[in-house]
Amino acid sequence: MTVKKIMVVGAGQMGNGIAQVAAQAGYETLQNDLNMDLVNKGIANIEKNLGRSVKKGRMTDEEAKEVLGRIKPSTSLEDAKDCDLIVEAIVENMDIKSKVFGELDRVAPEHAILASNTSSLPITQIAACTNRPEKVIGMHFMNPVPVMKLVEVIRGLATTDEVCKTIEEVSAKMNKTAIECKDVPGFVSNRVLQVMINEAIFELYEGVATTEGIDGIMKLGMNHPMGPLELADLIGLDTVLAILNVLYEGYGDPKYRPCPLLKSYVHAGWLGRKSGKGFYDYSK
Ligand code: CAA
Repeated sequence: MTVKKIMVVGAGQMGNGIAQVAAQAGYETLQNDLNMDLVNKGIANIEKNLGRSVKKGRMTDEEAKEVLGRIKPSTSLEDAKDCDLIVEAIVENMDIKSKVFGELDRVAPEHAILASNTSSLPITQIAACTNRPEKVIGMHFMNPVPVMKLVEVIRGLATTDEVCKTIEEVSAKMNKTAIECKDVPGFVSNRVLQVMINEAIFELYEGVATTEGIDGIMKLGMNHPMGPLELADLIGLDTVLAILNVLYEGYGDPKYRPCPLLKSYVHAGWLGRKSGKGFYDYSK
């Protein structure tokens, strides 16, 4: 199937990154969110990233303008009516996602693929809210989207080979490598990553080492670009907790129980970079 026009639903941290790489790959792109304020914030972030690329000599000013020109704002899901691929990147809440997928299924053309960037919610359950479960798939980008090379492709129970192939082709055009996995809680990425992050939070909770000590050991000893606590702050501590809860409930295994310290931070509103405070202080 040929994809020409992509709609990205959600203009937050992940959504605006996905819209950027879609437009850079040459796709006509719609950046959708609930209102123009949110859409404009997302597009302003794309503009900032493209400006950085121009400064670093990775693209010309002309090319950056062309990329921006391919991104059109949208505040209505009805705009999915002439899109070939819709990528949803909204809040990690099954009730809200179900409503959005039901609506997209009603509006989007019959051939259109409905993809979710969910970090851990079951694709098969999202697909069941539509009348086209065979065309619903997980397209899980990593943060920061313009930099990270992976798209984790999650196949729901009904997803067809043709849909998987199309998503692999689109990912390659976006200069990403698609790697497929089954629809299990946390998929491959978060089942491994969040256990490591949770263990690092337990170490902090138990006073095994300081925040800087834990991150320093993982960076210098394991060659990780960021320590687990720094990375948790980048992902958002509310998201880390939500994913751990999906793993804990999905497998019923105590090894996934979220550390009480993580719960306290989330209750306090210390959510990481986005709130100005997490394991580190970002207020300055
Ligand atoms: N948007 C766009 N570009 C960004 C960016 C952002 N938010 N942040 C950094 N960059 C770019 C910079 O422009 C820079 O580009 P050049 O090298 O071409 O100049 C490059 O990334 C490196 O940036 P910095 O030099 O500022 O900083 P760094 O070397 O420390 O790298 C990092 C920053 C790429 C974020 C690196 O620390 C890293 O790879 N961290 C780990 C990220 C990671 O593990 N992500 C996965 C999270 S899990 C997830 O997303 C899934 C989930 O479901 C939770």
